[in-house]
Amino acid sequence: MQTDRITQEAIEYIRSLFRGNADGHGFDHSLRVWRNAMMIAESEDCDPRIVSLAALLHDADDYKLFATENNANARQFLDAHGVTREDADRICDAVNAVSFSKNRGKCPETAEGRIVQDADRLDALGAVGIARTFAFGGGHGRPPEDSIGHFHEKLLLLKDMMNTEKAREIAEERHEFMEEFLREWDKETKIPET
Ligand code: ADP
Ligand code: NI
Repeated sequence: MQTDRITQEAIEYIRSLFRGNADGHGFDHSLRVWRNAMMIAESEDCDPRIVSLAALLHDADDYKLFATENNANARQFLDAHGVTREDADRICDAVNAVSFSKNRGKCPETAEGRIVQDADRLDALGAVGIARTFAFGGGHGRPPEDSIGHFHEKLLLLKDMMNTEKAREIAEERHEFMEEFLREWDKETKIPET
């Protein structure tokens, strides 16, 4: 995997940005999204430099964590590391296209945006997706049983929303794993008939 100088520096930047944050939007999530994105990028017609930095910085200005405007955190990093204005715009466009709320549910217009969106969605699936769901619920003071609904409301729908073929393949596997988990959950929590 490509880990040139600016990639390394972006990793260090988000490590310090997310320090102390454990709600599932942190450093580890961003690294996994980056890894997913680079894997998807191999089979897509795209600019991998843009994909790489957009993936690493995709939550750097998340409104739930930061009160920044106009991708200020991402832009500060990109400016300080000599990224051209044009490339910084492409990176921020991709980042802004990822978020469902900012993009009003539209499919991102660029290949790079579609790839990072898929990469972010993949991290809501599978074993990691299950762990994040309960971590999120717990963080909001909810017991595990209250988070089960989230699988049906959102997570089980994601495999049919992927933009790229590669992400669809990976999503399929992770989807099956979640269904297996839910079957086991039902089995273990079913109240025996009396
Ligand atoms: P993103 O903005 O990165 O798509 P969200 O903020 O929607 O992610 O969610 C972060 C994580 O918390 C995801 O894994 C998501 O599935 C989970 N999550 C979001 N909403 C809920 C909820 N109501 N109950 C349980 N888990 C949730
Ligand atoms: Ni994310």
